[in-house]
This record gives sequence, structure tokens and C-alpha cells, in this order.
Amino acid sequence: MNLILVGPPGAGKGTQSELICAHYGLSRLSTGDMLREAVRSGSQLGRQVGETLRSGGLIPDELMTALVRLWIEKDAGEAGFLLDGFPRTIPQAEKLDQANVTIDALLYLKLDNTILMNRLSQRRVHLASGRTYHLSDNPPQQEGLDDVTGEPLVQREDDLPEVIKHRLQTFYDKTEVLSIYYREKLGVKYLQIDAHGSVVEVFERIQTAFSAV
Ligand code: AP5
Repeated sequence: MNLILVGPPGAGKGTQSELICAHYGLSRLSTGDMLREAVRSGSQLGRQVGETLRSGGLIPDELMTALVRLWIEKDAGEAGFLLDGFPRTIPQAEKLDQANVTIDALLYLKLDNTILMNRLSQRRVHLASGRTYHLSDNPPQQEGLDDVTGEPLVQREDDLPEVIKHRLQTFYDKTEVLSIYYREKLGVKYLQIDAHGSVVEVFERIQTAFSAV
């Protein structure tokens, strides 16, 4: 089973994709985590994309497509995968399709903008692992520290109010249309999930949607 997870910034893609992959034994690629790791390591890729990440814009389609194809060829494994954050534009989706990568379902996490803003401004992350917390709804066991390593948590540079607005606008301008593209053009199964409520409630809705496929 190969899945694509789509949703506006803060809808819970990272949170839910970890649960989905652990539960169904899928490999996971978060393109956001991959790019942030490149920035953190100071690699050539990181230097190339750092400014765009901080501004909340999108990395060029050609580069993203090449990175994801490489991951699928080398690291995706046999049991299926979940792509969190890719594709993000129609050209990225077209390139994935031209590469004969089969997608079985697109999962769309839907959430109101006011709640998205709250989730993003209250988010804290452990950059090395990508583990994510929310100051009030999903706090770490010890304030400011990652549960697993005890290392400090930070606020993402793109979680500042002005950048969040830009990321939301980019999502509605360029990414939301993917649900129509996959459903109507490629005939891929489309599962829209109400992403309000607790992490557990949302995951239960996802499991229910899968069981009906
Ligand atoms: P990326 O990292 O993919 O960012 P995003 O899509 O904006 O999504 P987020 O990571 O902000 O949110 P999320 O939906 O994963 O929510 P989360 O689970 O963390 O991409 C970052 C950047 O990389 C892009 O802006 C772009 O520049 C670049 N990029 C990436 N892919 C690209 C591509 N294909 N092409 C071009 N550029 C690309 O949850 C959010 C918060 O809410 C957390 O605090 C969490 O603990 C909390 N939370 C989650 N669920 C719940 C719940 N049910 N109840 C309460 N709190 C919850």
C-alpha cells in the first residue's frame, strides 16, 4: 500500500503519519523533515534550501522530485510507503506518475484555519528526530525537553505568524488541488479525514476509513 498524506500546515500530517506507519508497517518519508535535516547538517542541499524553508515558500519541483524518487528507489522498502508532504504541486504529482510510482490512496486531513494557527504557534520540535509536541495538547513529559533523548525542544523558524500565513496561502493556492487531481484524473482512492479532536480520535477515524477501502 502506497499512500500520500495531504493537509494544510499543522493539520497533523507528521503526528498521524508516524502512527499510520507504525500500525500498518509502512516506510515513511516526510519531505519537510528531510529538508530540515539537510539544513541542520549544513550539507550542500541544506545551504541550497535553507532560505526558502525559513520563508515558507516551496522548494523547486525538479529538486524535490529527484530527492523523492531517489528515496523511493533506495529506502522505501517492499511493504509500501507513506509520503508526508509530497507531492505538493501538480507538476510534482505528474512527475511521480510519469515515473510509474503507484499510489493506492490519498488521505486528506481537513482542519479549520484558526485551529491550524494555534497548533503551529504552540508546536515545539526535537529537530534531530522530527518528534513534535504541542505546549498544551501534547506536551513533553518534562517542559522544554524531548521525551526520548532529554534534548532541548525548539520552535521551528517557519512557525512564526507571518510565515504561517504564507505557508497556508501556498497550500490553498498550490497543494489543495491535488485531491481533485488524484481522485478525478488518476482515479486514486480519496479519503477525507476530519482532523479536529485529539490525536487518538483522528487516528481512529483514519483506521475506520482504511477498513472501508
Ligand atoms: P513540512 O514539514 O511538510 O510542513 P507542513 O506541510 O507545513 O506541515 P507541518 O509539519 O507544519 O504540520 P503537520 O501537518 O505535519 O502537523 P504536525 O503533526 O506537526 O514542510 C516544511 C517546508 O518544507 C515547506 O514549507 C516547504 O518549504 C518545504 N517542502 C516540504 N515538502 C516540499 C515539497 N514537496 N515541495 C516543495 N517544498 C517542500 O502537528 C502540528 C502541531 O499540532 C504539533 O504541535 C502537534 O503536536 C499538534 N497536533 C497534531 N495533531 C493534534 C491533535 N489532533 N490535537 C492537538 N494537537 C495536535
